[in-house]
Amino acid sequence: MPDSKTIYVLNGPNLNMLGLREPEIYGSDTLDDIAGMLDDRAQAIGVDIDMRQTNHEGLLVDWIQEANARNAHAILLNAGAFTHTSIAIHDAIKAVTVPVIEVHLSNPHRREPFRHTSFVGMAAKGTIAGFGAHGYVLALDAAAKL
Ligand code: DQA
Repeated sequence: MPDSKTIYVLNGPNLNMLGLREPEIYGSDTLDDIAGMLDDRAQAIGVDIDMRQTNHEGLLVDWIQEANARNAHAILLNAGAFTHTSIAIHDAIKAVTVPVIEVHLSNPHRREPFRHTSFVGMAAKGTIAGFGAHGYVLALDAAAKL
């Protein structure tokens, strides 16, 4: 598959704990379950996905730059808590031309005030939040149509 058909799915800190982590907020699906859902949908709509997770802020910056250098079609980004703190990730999104779609399992605007600021959302093309694991599939469909 050419890189222009590849959609990166980048996940930040603590998302490796999905399934175990506060299931009343984030649901019982694991990140592997989400990868499975995305693989099925990617096959159906004819795109390729490259899904990764890290607990390290700088690695997310590296991967955003890499996706751009590889001429990826789009990035789905759930930056976890870095969403609310990271000017470096904000700057990385603004530095590249590859479109970034912000994804959250929960709806941060219904939660604590410190989650109401999103440095990712301020730079992203759009945001899908509050639909649990299915939000990733919604974001993939949105990305494929860009
Ligand atoms: C999250 C929301 C963030 O506020 C939180 O820090 C996360 C997960 C979500 O997917 O709902 O780690 O990005």
